Amino acid sequence: MKTPSLSDAQSFLTEAESRNPGPWVGHSSAAAQAAGAIASQFPGLHPETAFIFGLLHDIGRGAGVSGLHHILDGYRFLIELGYDDAARICITHSFPIKNIHAVEGNWDCSDPELEFIKDILDRTEYNDYDRLIQLCDAIALPDGYCLMEKRLFDVTLRYGVHEFTVQKWKAYLQIQSDFEAVLGKSIYSLLPGVEENTFRIKIHPAEK
Ligand SMILES: [Fe+2]
Repeated sequence: MKTPSLSDAQSFLTEAESRNPGPWVGHSSAAAQAAGAIASQFPGLHPETAFIFGLLHDIGRGAGVSGLHHILDGYRFLIELGYDDAARICITHSFPIKNIHAVEGNWDCSDPELEFIKDILDRTEYNDYDRLIQLCDAIALPDGYCLMEKRLFDVTLRYGVHEFTVQKWKAYLQIQSDFEAVLGKSIYSLLPGVEENTFRIKIHPAEK
């Protein structure tokens, strides 16, 4: 597995932020911190690798304000640098269920681009890093991680529901429960500050 170094990953994020500043950067940092913390106690996962994947999962947002297209931009950016695993996670993080129609936000991909994403999903067997970043994306707000149900509600308030919303929520909850079965404890017990972030009364701005 060829993964960018931590300093390169941080440089990519800083550069992407300069091109498209926004709450997505804080969200990426929160996802990275959660991924590193959970990976530190999960067999077979490397905390720094998990942190880097979390940091870069939305790196495509550096290409500008976009909807689903950011996953493709992130994939292309990292694949060109030879970081196939980090690139794949730019795509897989959005699909706890493998269905290209089960997404929130704007449909700003062309039909060939959607076919390309579908092909990657069809060919990919999710590993623990894919599932970890799906999980951490689902608990990461712009200013820290929180109870998953709060984050899912936050996304739904901004983008509305679609026909796969409930199925997708169930998939996220299943990933959480699968991780907790291995950890033998709540993921939240590994995430300092989760209580403050969850119960603080605050409306979060869009990540884009
Ligand atoms: Fe994300």
